[in-house]
Amino acid sequence: MMNSADIRQTFLDFFRSKGHTILPSAPIVVKDDPTLMFTNAGMNQFKDYFLGNKKPPSARVADTQKCLRVSGKHNDLEEVGVDTYHHTMFEMMGNWSFGDYFKKEAIAWSWELLTEVYGLDKDMLYVSIFEGNIQEGLPKDEEAYTEWKKVIAEDRIILGNKKDNFWEMGDTGPCGPCTEIHADCRSNAERKAVDGKTLVNNDHPQVIEIWNNVFIQFNRLKDGSLEPLPSKHVDTGMGLERLVRVLQRKTSNYDTDIFSGTIAKTEKIVGKKYIADAATSPSTGGSRREAVAFRVIADHIRAISFTIADGQLPSNTGAGYVIRRILRRAVRYYYSYLDYKKPLLHQLLPGLAKQFENVFPELQKQVDFVSRVVKEEEESFLKTLEKGIVKFNERAQLHKDQLLPEEEARKSIDGITAFILYDTFGFPVDLTQLLAKEIGWEVDMNGFNNVMQQQKDRSRAATAIDTEDWIILHDNSINEFVGYDNLETITRINQYRKVKIKGKEAYQLVLQKTPFYAESGGQVGDIGELILPSPSGEGVRLSVFDTKKENDLIVHFTETIPAVLSGEVIAKVDALKRRNTELHHSATHLLHAALRNVLGNHVAQKGSLVNNEHLRFDFSHFAKMADEEMAKVEALVNKKIRENIP
Ligand code: ALA
Repeated sequence: MMNSADIRQTFLDFFRSKGHTILPSAPIVVKDDPTLMFTNAGMNQFKDYFLGNKKPPSARVADTQKCLRVSGKHNDLEEVGVDTYHHTMFEMMGNWSFGDYFKKEAIAWSWELLTEVYGLDKDMLYVSIFEGNIQEGLPKDEEAYTEWKKVIAEDRIILGNKKDNFWEMGDTGPCGPCTEIHADCRSNAERKAVDGKTLVNNDHPQVIEIWNNVFIQFNRLKDGSLEPLPSKHVDTGMGLERLVRVLQRKTSNYDTDIFSGTIAKTEKIVGKKYIADAATSPSTGGSRREAVAFRVIADHIRAISFTIADGQLPSNTGAGYVIRRILRRAVRYYYSYLDYKKPLLHQLLPGLAKQFENVFPELQKQVDFVSRVVKEEEESFLKTLEKGIVKFNERAQLHKDQLLPEEEARKSIDGITAFILYDTFGFPVDLTQLLAKEIGWEVDMNGFNNVMQQQKDRSRAATAIDTEDWIILHDNSINEFVGYDNLETITRINQYRKVKIKGKEAYQLVLQKTPFYAESGGQVGDIGELILPSPSGEGVRLSVFDTKKENDLIVHFTETIPAVLSGEVIAKVDALKRRNTELHHSATHLLHAALRNVLGNHVAQKGSLVNNEHLRFDFSHFAKMADEEMAKVEALVNKKIRENIP
C-alpha cells in the first residue's frame, strides 16, 4: 500500500511526465488579495495568469497547495470532525494549463492517473459534467461529455447543476464549468444494493468527490455578469487526504497515515483510545463525542500550525481571529470531551512538523516558535474557559428553573450572554453556538449581532474598501516597476476604477510603467503626482496619495480623475519622502540582522512598518529582550550605519 508521501509524489511525477513544471505551495495566508483571507484553492496564486495580468512561468504547472476553507465562499468548518472527510486545512493537488491544453487532455490524464497509475477500480468511479444554466445563458458542457464517453460508461456520467458543476473562486474572479470525479468506497454488497450513482453529491460519507477539473473561461464581475476570458485554461484540484483514504481503502480520512500519527500521540497524552467507529455511530454516546474530539484536534492542529508558520499570528481581528477561533474550538473539545485540562495542542507540533518536513519545511524550521505561540494561546484560553462554561450553564439553568420571562423562555442563549461570553471569556460566538447545539438550543444571533454591531462598525470602517469593475484603456498585460532607477517617467494609464474607502470615493489607476513603489515588505507606498495632458497645454496634476499592490498590479490612488485619461502621462514620485523611507527600509534590514546576531537565528520577521518618519519591526523571540541585549543591537546597527557600506 502506498503511503501518503508516495501518493503525493506520484501525482507530481505524473504531471511532470506530461510536461508540467512543479511549483511550491503558496503560503496559506493571503496578504495581497482583498477578496481572500486564506488560500482556499490551488488556483488562487495563479489568478493573474487566468486574468491575463501576468505571464505564467510555464504554460503547464502542477503542485500541492496548502488550503484553508473556513471563511468566505468556501467554508467547511461545521462539518469538520463530525464527519470523516471535511477539513479546515487540506492539501489540494492540482495541474494547470494556462491557455495551453483544455478539456480533452485534462480529462484523459485524470482518468489515466486514477485508473492506470494509482490502479483505482473503474467500477467505483463516477463523473459529473455541467448541465448548463438558462439564467446565465450557459450551455451544457458537450465537450466534456464527449471526452468522458471515450473512457467511462455513459451511465456513469452525471449531469450536474450550477451549484455542483460551475466553479467560482469567490463572488468575483475567474470561473467556469467543471467536471468532478467521485469515488464510491462502499463494500461490494452495499454497492449492489443501492446504485452509487444516486448517492453522488448527496453527503454520503462513502461516496465522495475526489477531483475537480475546472475549465476556466470567464471572469465573474462585480455586477454578477460573466465576462469571457481571452484564453481558456484548466484548473484542477484533488484533495490529497481523500485520495489517500480511497487508495488506502479506509472508510475515513482520519484512518490514513496523514492523521494516524497525530491521533496516536493525542491518545498517549490524554490516556484515552480513539474508537473510529464511535464517531459515526449515534448509539455510543460519550465515546462518539470523544471520537469527534480526536478528529477535531487532528484536523485543527494542522490549520493552526501551518497558518502561524506562514506568518499569521492569532489575534482579535481578520485572519488572526479565524485562527484563534479554530484554536479555541480545539481546546474546548479536549477540555470537555477528553477531560484534559492543560495545554495539549502544542505537544503535537514536533511530530507534525517532522511528518511534513519534506513537503512543507517551513513548519519544521520554526517549530519552537510555533509551539510557543500555540501554547501561550492555549494557556490564555484555558484560564477563562471553565468560567465561561459555568456562565453558559447558568443561563441554561435559568431556563430549566423556569425563571425567564415568557418571551425569553425558548431554548436559546440570549444575545447579551453570548456577547459576555465573547467579550469577557473569549468565546468565539461559533463556540457558543456549538455548546448550544449540543443541548439542542440555539443562540439568539440577532441579539448577539446587535450588541456587536457598534464595535464591528468601528473596526470595519477602518479597513473597508468597496471596488467597482476595472475600465481598461490599453493593453493591460504590461505593468512594469521602474522605480529603483527612476523617480519620474513618461507612461500611460492602462486601467482604472472607482472605489470607496471608508465610505469616501477615490480612484485606482494602473500605469503601463511606474516609478511608484507599492506598499510591500512593510514599506509604505509612494506618494507623488501624475501629470496628464490638458487642452490648455499646462497639464492636469493629480495627486497620488497612496500606492498599493493588488496581486501583481501596482495600483495608484487618487481622489479625482479628469474626463480624459488617454495619452501620455508623467508619473512623478515625491522624492524626499521616498528617500527618507528608503533610509528606514535599509535600517530595518540592519535591525533584523543585528537581532539575529544578538538573539539567535530563530528571530524571524513577523511584520514591519517603514515610512519616511520611522520604522517598526515585529519579530519572534521567546522572551522579553533584556536591556543589555537592546543596547547591543543598537550599537551594532549604529556601527554598520557608520561603516557606510555602498
Ligand atoms: N479550483 C477548483 C477547486 O477548488 C479545482 O475545486
